[in-house]
Amino acid sequence: MSAAVRPSNDPLFHHWMPFTANRQFQEQPRLIARAEGVYYYNTHGEKLLDGSSGLYCIPLGHGRREIREAVAKQMEELDYAPPFQYGVPTAFRLATEVAQMLPAGLNRVFFTCSGSEAADTALKVAIQYHRARGEGQRMRFIGRERGYHGVNFGGWSVGGMVANRKSFGVGLPGVSHLRHTHIKENYFQMGEGEHGADLADDLERFVNLHGADTIAACIVEPIAGSTGILVPPKGYLKRLREICTKHGILLIFDEVITGFGRTGEAFAAQTFGATPDILTMAKAITNGSIPMAAVAVRDEIQQVIQDAAPANTIEFAHGYTYSAHPAACAAGLATLKIYREEDTFSRVKALAPDFLEQIGSFKGMPGVIDTRGFGLLGAVEVTPKGKPGERGFEILRKAFENGLVLRSAGDNLVLAPPFAATPDQISEMIDILRRLIKES
Ligand SMILES: Cc1ncc(COP(=O)(O)O)c(C=O)c1O
Repeated sequence: MSAAVRPSNDPLFHHWMPFTANRQFQEQPRLIARAEGVYYYNTHGEKLLDGSSGLYCIPLGHGRREIREAVAKQMEELDYAPPFQYGVPTAFRLATEVAQMLPAGLNRVFFTCSGSEAADTALKVAIQYHRARGEGQRMRFIGRERGYHGVNFGGWSVGGMVANRKSFGVGLPGVSHLRHTHIKENYFQMGEGEHGADLADDLERFVNLHGADTIAACIVEPIAGSTGILVPPKGYLKRLREICTKHGILLIFDEVITGFGRTGEAFAAQTFGATPDILTMAKAITNGSIPMAAVAVRDEIQQVIQDAAPANTIEFAHGYTYSAHPAACAAGLATLKIYREEDTFSRVKALAPDFLEQIGSFKGMPGVIDTRGFGLLGAVEVTPKGKPGERGFEILRKAFENGLVLRSAGDNLVLAPPFAATPDQISEMIDILRRLIKES
């Protein structure tokens, strides 16, 4: 048995960190003590640029006073009320405001506390909808390779990230995966690729194999985020929409990363002109300040489930103790107000062309094998050195020492600047990354 890196009386001993190489971290901790605007400060007071908007969740930058004050006020008035059979007014207001931002037809909003819970909620809604319509045999789900839908049982089962699947057994039965859309023909294409819309036809193959009447839903991220920003090929999402409609399969978009402006519109569904039946969101709904997520469904889906239940019975036996927590609702309302008043998403449209051009300019650098991006999401993929992912992790580690927090997904280095970043700050993030890739 190998010894723990730190003794049990060490302050860093007890916290088992999520999605972290804990041994390495304990040897060389990366501690963040404070944040303001687009900067973090480490425990020595040194500044670091936030190149990934937290985990894609802080588009407005850190420490917005309006959000903090709204949460504090809410906590003074009402810290908690049970969300089952009781409601708080702010939850209804937030749901209304979210619905106003969503594509037309998605008007019913169910709150959860994380993107993972939103994904599992969406899958359960799909199953129950079909049951309520007398098509209870529709139990299969179609996910996609390299998709990420969080870590709960439904989400990882439909997800296609190998590392997130391999330790946990077989997962949900009846799940198949479309091929991913990261194809050679589109390498170095910033924005949507010209090739690969026909990859959506994989869904037809599953229809032929299993029968459409066994498939409940197909779930994809419009842009796959956690496996390194895989932008959909032109026309791909529309094609998926058409196939789902043709066969009565519900289409779920997981917009946990893309929701709230990352692509320049409120939701990627609007950017790519394809409206799902169910849409999950999280992260930027509260600018990352308080955990919150949500699932929006087409009116008819909620109506069918509701109508199928006898009077005075709960129609959807699902929910979380902290669904629509008052503090999260207050944070959400304050965040959405800023998005409206500051026209935040048009800033993405203004910043994106230059950002994407700079990401694209890594083409031709030794060791760079692809660049991709859309809106304020960009990735540079480097050739592995050692085991896959080692070089990416090493760059992430060195970036911290060089004043930059970014994401690595295997050997993809991902930048997702806060929308509040200036062009100069974005260029600085890019320059640090360029230097580190050169040195790696
Ligand atoms: C597309 C997508 N879905 C779901 C999740 C899971 O969200 P959470 O970590 O809040 O559970 C994430 C997290 O990054 C995500 O990117």
